Amino acid sequence: MDDFEAKWSEFEEECRNCEDCELCKGRTNVVIYRGGKSAPLMIIGEAPGESEDLEGKPFVGRSGKLLQHLIKSFGIKDEDYHICNICKCRPPQNRRPTPSEIKACKRHLAAQFRLVNPKIILLCGSTAYEGFFNEKPLMGDVRGVFTEKNGYEIMTTYHPAYALRNPKMKIPMMEDFTKVYNRLVERGLIEKSPEINP
Ligand code: URA
Repeated sequence: MDDFEAKWSEFEEECRNCEDCELCKGRTNVVIYRGGKSAPLMIIGEAPGESEDLEGKPFVGRSGKLLQHLIKSFGIKDEDYHICNICKCRPPQNRRPTPSEIKACKRHLAAQFRLVNPKIILLCGSTAYEGFFNEKPLMGDVRGVFTEKNGYEIMTTYHPAYALRNPKMKIPMMEDFTKVYNRLVERGLIEKSPEINP
């Protein structure tokens, strides 16, 4: 096992043994990531729902299908994105994770950032934004523009669950994804897909 894989196993082990907040009591699985372990694009959602808790992977339910459709429509390869959540355990009744649950999970997210080493981050929804920037967003104001923090380029978009409830919101989500895709290509972080001409 090389050094990266050893560090990754250690990180997963830490997450799976975590009892830093009450959410550990109701979980089936600690939901860590899907996609590449190390990737230029990190996509961050809120917290696992029922399907994610059962499968142990983020965004595998209805919201995940929309997210996956967006990713695939740009031809982004599985090893080029890393999907995770601001909180790794399922909150009861799919409520939002509380600020203290988000805070408790931060050490794991920080370790994840160090290993994944993303260049561009896509925050999906207001909880991810708040967890990352420690301030409540007005989504209409913050989405669709790149900002910079700690050397990362950060884009915020709507949560896919919100776009499922409000189908018109798929249009701005697609616009935000287009900006992310273009930036990844411009920076030489991914190869341009031959069939994509955004
Ligand atoms: N919603 C999220 O924010 N994350 C998931 O993993 C699934 C649904």
